[in-house]
Amino acid sequence: MSEKPYRPILIMLTANWISMAGSALVLFALVVLLFLIPVHMAGTVSNPYTGLLAFLILPALFILGLVLIPIGLFIARRNGTAIMAGVTDRRSAWKKAILFFGVATAVNVLVGGQLTYRAVEHMDTQQFCGQTCHAMTPEFVSHARPPHLRVACVSCHVSPGASGYLKAKTAGTRRLVGAVMDNFEKPIDYIPGLEGSASSSETCEVCHARETTLGPRFRILTKFADDETNTQSQTVLMMRVGGGASGGIHGAHLAPGISIRYFATDAKRQTIPRVEYKNAKMGITRTFMTPGSTEASTSKLASYTMQCADCHNRVAHSFDLPDRALDRALAAGEINPTLPFAKKTGLALLEAKYASADEAGRKIPASFEDFYRKQYPQVLANQQADITRAGQALIAMYRQNIFPELKVTWGTYPTNLGHMTSPGCFRCHDGDHATSDGKTATQDCETCHRTLAVEEKDPAVLKDLGISTAAR
Ligand code: HEC
Ligand code: HEC
Ligand code: HEC
Ligand code: HEC
Ligand code: HEC
Repeated sequence: MSEKPYRPILIMLTANWISMAGSALVLFALVVLLFLIPVHMAGTVSNPYTGLLAFLILPALFILGLVLIPIGLFIARRNGTAIMAGVTDRRSAWKKAILFFGVATAVNVLVGGQLTYRAVEHMDTQQFCGQTCHAMTPEFVSHARPPHLRVACVSCHVSPGASGYLKAKTAGTRRLVGAVMDNFEKPIDYIPGLEGSASSSETCEVCHARETTLGPRFRILTKFADDETNTQSQTVLMMRVGGGASGGIHGAHLAPGISIRYFATDAKRQTIPRVEYKNAKMGITRTFMTPGSTEASTSKLASYTMQCADCHNRVAHSFDLPDRALDRALAAGEINPTLPFAKKTGLALLEAKYASADEAGRKIPASFEDFYRKQYPQVLANQQADITRAGQALIAMYRQNIFPELKVTWGTYPTNLGHMTSPGCFRCHDGDHATSDGKTATQDCETCHRTLAVEEKDPAVLKDLGISTAAR
């Protein structure tokens, strides 16, 4: 035993199958990482889930490989394999090592590179975000409606560039692991994207400049009563949207120099006891608080700088309340308003409890038809097609809004753009939020919109404008 064992590292790494597998893993992880780095540096990938690959799976493989190598060597030594005692045939040992590393590297570069490229590309698609992750089915379904249906999830949810990516990555990766393990809060209500890392200046405002002045927007809301004739009425509003220096709704919160910071008690940001308003141009700072709130009682609350999504929170994922969904379907003619009690019957069926989406899909149209069979057999005879179509429209409404397995139901995701079905604007403009000298955030009915008609039959203003019935 005078001769020192000959064991160059390269040869040890290929000395036995286990060490060889370990080396292959280490090599694979390194090569894929090499491919990922430039993609990240370029900032072209803004998807948090590539982070899972780069920061979780690859390091795990790398470490597994590193662990396997000594295990292999240890076992080989116990079995007294030649390599540990000194190699008898150096030439063939070297040949084996070089062959292994040559082939492994070539295969890795070819396969790993392609794999990485495809994976990264795939993770940027809506299919990956909405469908691979079952937890986001409601958002995927609601996103498939205009106008944003072709805007990629990441365009709104992840700020471009390294910093946004870094912020979304950690949260996104944690979330993905949670989703895979089915370990997440249902329904999902906190989104790391928009408030946490994606500022609207880098997402929405890439397409919609904050400085844009939008003229007044005309809103016609068509409603139907729950009487036999589904009596139609219309509310007509002229929204003072404005923008930039022209004031109005957009200008009041987003004009250059203005910033609004608010403190919320809940993750959905529905209860806001304190609001700070700054207007740098005019040199104005105001703090609005609800009665009983103080700086001290609110200072530990999470705070947010107001941006587009604070009002337009349902811009890509709009869910309806059953009453509203029915009004829309009746106005669009998907449910024929001449069907007696169509609104009332439909509403009762949509609000009923069902064990599963399948059961709802069977019961809703059957019960709707049953109603006419029992109460209005003549209508059923004359309008069978209308009734079948209405049944289908009702199921569609149900499927777009109710996801029992995720605990998403009517009203789970309230809209902030209004004040009738949820607090919305009145989270701050409720007349209660006041400065210490008594100034309140306005609740004057004509400041945000001209109220031209409220639930009127054939409003005069629509006649004057030559707009007859249901326009939207
Ligand atoms: C046009 C911009 C936009 C696009 C495109 C978009 N989202 Fe959203 N998403 C939002 C906004 C705004 C919110 C609400 C954020 C808030 O409440 O602060 C949101 C919220 C969510 C939430 C949290 C639950 C909820 O409904 O509040 C999930 C999950 C989500 N989006 C997933 C997706 C997925 C998946 C896609 C692609 C299929 C997508 N989003 C595309 C703007 C967008
Ligand atoms: C990739 C570009 C893009 C991004 C990002 C984007 N939008 Fe849009 N948005 C559009 C387009 C295009 C339209 C349709 C314009 C039209 O038809 O006049 C639209 C329409 C809208 C409308 C009108 C809605 C309606 O029902 O007609 C609102 C409000 C809106 N966007 C707000 C937002 C907000 C808020 C965000 C960020 C959370 C956002 N958008 C992100 C491109 C974008
Ligand atoms: C203070 C709440 C608020 C904020 C903040 C806000 N908006 Fe609006 N926005 C509104 C209201 C209210 C309307 C009128 C919408 C209506 O009646 O449907 C509107 C209208 C619009 C419209 C026109 C929609 C149409 O149907 O023509 C677009 C586009 C829009 N907003 C985009 C944005 C973008 C982009 C941002 C961020 C830069 C933003 N908004 C910030 C409240 C807000
Ligand atoms: C987070 C709190 C908050 C929310 C939510 C909010 N606002 Fe405001 N809004 C303010 C503050 C603060 C001011 C400035 C008040 C002041 O200094 O008089 C303001 C001012 C306004 C003004 C100008 C009022 C005036 O006297 O000229 C309009 C219009 C307006 N908001 C509309 C809306 C609409 C529409 C919504 C809902 C879509 C909304 N706001 C939601 C905080 C809010
Ligand atoms: C801070 C701004 C603001 C103030 C103040 C305000 N509104 Fe509104 N209002 C809105 C917005 C935004 C909508 C939603 C418009 C839409 O659906 O596009 C709305 C919608 C409505 C609607 C239609 C509701 C529906 O969906 O059926 C009525 C009616 C209405 N407002 C009445 C009032 C009355 C009455 C007051 C005074 C107590 C008032 N508003 C004060 C912003 C405001």
